[in-house]
Amino acid sequence: MSTVKEEIERRRTFGIVSHPDAGKTTLTEKLLLYGGAIQEAGAVKSNKIKKGATSDFMEIERQRGISVATSVMGFEYKGKKINILDTPGHQDFAEDTFRTLTAVDSVIVVIDVAKGVESQTEKLVEVCRMRDTPIIIFINKLDREGKDAYDLLDEVEEKLGLKVCPLSWPIGMGQDFQGVYNLWEKNLLLYTEQKKQKIAKSIKIENIEDPEIDNLVGSDSAETLREELELINGVYPNFDVEDYLSGKISPVFFGSALNNFGVQELLNCFVDIAPAPLPKLTEQRLVKPEENNFSGFIFKIHANMDPKHRDRLAFLKIVSGTFKRNTNYNHIRLGKSMKFSNPTAFMASKKSIVDEAFPGDIVGLHDTGNFRIGDTLTQGEDLEFSGIPSFSPEHFRFINNADPLKAKQLNKGVDQLMDEGVAQLFTLESNGRKIIGTVGALQYEVIQYRLEHEYGAKCTYESYQAFKACWIESNDAAQLEEFSKLKFRYLAKDKFDRLVFLADSSFSLQMAKDKFDKLKFHFKSEF
Ligand code: G4P
Repeated sequence: MSTVKEEIERRRTFGIVSHPDAGKTTLTEKLLLYGGAIQEAGAVKSNKIKKGATSDFMEIERQRGISVATSVMGFEYKGKKINILDTPGHQDFAEDTFRTLTAVDSVIVVIDVAKGVESQTEKLVEVCRMRDTPIIIFINKLDREGKDAYDLLDEVEEKLGLKVCPLSWPIGMGQDFQGVYNLWEKNLLLYTEQKKQKIAKSIKIENIEDPEIDNLVGSDSAETLREELELINGVYPNFDVEDYLSGKISPVFFGSALNNFGVQELLNCFVDIAPAPLPKLTEQRLVKPEENNFSGFIFKIHANMDPKHRDRLAFLKIVSGTFKRNTNYNHIRLGKSMKFSNPTAFMASKKSIVDEAFPGDIVGLHDTGNFRIGDTLTQGEDLEFSGIPSFSPEHFRFINNADPLKAKQLNKGVDQLMDEGVAQLFTLESNGRKIIGTVGALQYEVIQYRLEHEYGAKCTYESYQAFKACWIESNDAAQLEEFSKLKFRYLAKDKFDRLVFLADSSFSLQMAKDKFDKLKFHFKSEF
């Protein structure tokens, strides 16, 4: 029997983030294959929202339904218990991804060698950087023509604001791709053809001057590789695990997920260096995983839209202590004691009921409407985990009640959908009208459909012109008052009663910033 401390230390909970199509699903699948968690490729595909389905939200929801099973994929590798937290690639669900990132201890960022750093990657990495989350970068699709490796690393540093340190280096690319030299394990990984299939063949080469390299890849390529490695040594800092763990430096690997090339090397390095569950801040104090008492928080709520199974599953990340089945815990926000008879654990795409779970683990709790994103559960202590911010939505619309007899149902429905994090609600200060803010236009359809089918309420929307929602921070009461008077029409409260300025254009936001220099305008709710 291992001790709780050993259980904590062997856990690695992380997320893979990328712009859609960079290869996140393929990489996830290959990692699961190594972990023996799945037997064949293709098993995770159902998780992906298919291209072309973007206008059909029911189809997307159906696929999201399937994806509950793959929301968390646990597997064992080299004695470590690895939990991959799935992050939806579809940008309309970006908020889901942001929140999931609060529950990971590190991330792997996948970048397409031809496309380089794309917009979604930029946004997601920004969120990781806010928390100094350790990041490993995997440059994918080396079997295709792409950008020059140096240029790409420059782009990564510039656009993502990361300092990088290559731990593998490609030899050729596309048609001429021969393999990578792995600086971490000091071996040459050859990309060779066998029985018409490209396979990876790993050859231990301690010394880069070894003439064996010339035999394997040809003298020209060997020479280029030596020159480039020398250059790397000069340009990039030496790899220091501590710098990676504190988010100061990001190691980079090159490979091809589809061809299963460079993936095992990535995984081997990951299990060596990635952090075990980290302490987490609450409003009250820092909570350490090895503390005796259980604590955890809800980072995701998944509602099933199938009318036959209208259950919700709340995802709990365990931060400290041991979570036990059928044990009473404190739901801090509601001040209520709750116990769970069927907590679910996730191993690959299978769900099973667990008796206990440890820090780093994710447990699914069946919910009848008690949970809201960000809720804390503890063994008794009054703690509230912080750090699940809301971000400014991209779209805004008034929501109106279309059936006066169902006002109560509408309010309840809207409240619960907001608790799930489907969208954000703002109430205008001037007239109490309600505005729904979303990341993608798709959510409006989802909300309308769900209000009708789950709550029996009808709504209509009306356009509302806003550029961004800014949460206002002020240390100057006089200026805040003046601002509130002048901008009264544009002020609203969010669900937690925080003051929000709904700027109607980038111009008016800039004007407000210039005029009210003592106020701070944040694009997210925590600062
Ligand atoms: P995502 O989850 O990040 O959105 O990406 P996903 O893994 O689904 O990969 C997107 C496309 O890129 C897929 O092709 C996939 O096969 C391909 N791909 C992934 N890794 C590599 C690689 O290393 N090399 C090459 N050449 N392609 C790669 P698709 O045609 O869109 O899908 P499918 O029909 O293959 O499923």
